[in-house]
Amino acid sequence: MSFIEFIGRLEFVLRPVISFVPASLGVRAFTAGRNVYLPRFAHDVPSRSFEPPEELGVTAWGLRFRLPIWNAAGMFKSGAGYAMVAAEGAGAFVAGTTTSRQRKGNVVKGITWPSTQYPYSHSASNWMGLPNAGHAEVAAKLAKVRHVPGCPLGISVSAEPGLDEGLALPELMEGLRRYADAGVDYIELNESCPNVPGHDRHEALDSALLRRLDVVASEFLAKRTRPLPLVVKLSTDTSHEQIPLLVAALVDRGFDGMILGNTSTRYADLRRYVDRRDLAMYDHFTKTYGGGISGALLTRSSLESCTVAMEAVRALAPSHEFHVIRCGGVMTMEDIEASRRTGVLLNQWYVGYFENFAQHGHDLYRVLSERMRLSSVLTLS
Ligand SMILES: Cc1cc2nc3c(=O)[nH]c(=O)nc-3n(C[C@H](O)[C@H](O)[C@H](O)COP(=O)(O)O)c2cc1C
Repeated sequence: MSFIEFIGRLEFVLRPVISFVPASLGVRAFTAGRNVYLPRFAHDVPSRSFEPPEELGVTAWGLRFRLPIWNAAGMFKSGAGYAMVAAEGAGAFVAGTTTSRQRKGNVVKGITWPSTQYPYSHSASNWMGLPNAGHAEVAAKLAKVRHVPGCPLGISVSAEPGLDEGLALPELMEGLRRYADAGVDYIELNESCPNVPGHDRHEALDSALLRRLDVVASEFLAKRTRPLPLVVKLSTDTSHEQIPLLVAALVDRGFDGMILGNTSTRYADLRRYVDRRDLAMYDHFTKTYGGGISGALLTRSSLESCTVAMEAVRALAPSHEFHVIRCGGVMTMEDIEASRRTGVLLNQWYVGYFENFAQHGHDLYRVLSERMRLSSVLTLS
């Protein structure tokens, strides 16, 4: 077991302690630990590589994903980490989210990028505010990555929040071109971060979003010189009425798919599912920072949103390949199977990844693969 795996396991075992200390201290301690841990975690490449069995893979947009699951955006913001997850056997990798300008992210009361855990609810909150080094620096890093077959390399990008559209859109286009030149295999356009002003509209299809989609379609999608799928990531809070309209807007403009979705700000709705031992922390974090909720609290809503999206895709029957990717509360093999039953072939995880990492370390995709294989054998017999 590597030191990073040991710390991941230890933190998971000690996590419930957070419900016995004052919530403000809990946030401070967890955030500080996480800020030290994550950059080191990305470099902990296991000495043994795992290659998932061929039959568990998915082919989408002509790309081979060895497994139907990989990390959600935000885990490898700086672009480091590909070699690590590729050796673990992940279905793909995504770096970012990056913006055109470097961002410090949210710092409040001396806490840089406040985050916390809800251990008994298998969930988390963060209010980071998209800290990142910028498209240029991360694209230069990704250009040097050696791609492993079956593990596409993705990047998540966002237009610079708060910047006038006249500047933000050309800067976004420049970023997209840099990543295309850096050889990435797919791109996520993050239209869903609740932690920055301007990304928190759940009544989607606002005119600024449509203008961004138009510009990306005409200035980037239409000019691609190689297959380079671009999917749009929305919030899991996107209303069910809006999802078919969004699917149509994306299909019409030639986008390749959508991810449902990002973290939630439905604090009051989700509160009833929070374990009572996590309530003090939940109330403290959501009232003090707000932020986005992730993890098992989203399992149900991400599946429902994906179901609605898949119905819309089927009704539209696009003439090009369009995929819905599920993200939000994907924690287990059963969640991946539930996605597949709705027609969703691809999944991402953040909180679920770390819960599995704590238990299985770098063997997490090996263990998942064994379970998936066993499940398919049992289903067939
Ligand atoms: C600490 C943290 C940072 C995140 N940063 C980003 C980000 O930069 N870009 C993004 O699109 N999503 C970001 N997310 C959201 C995740 O990608 C994902 O959509 C969300 O956590 C729901 O998935 P989960 O329930 O599997 O955690 C972040 C989530 C967490 C917990």
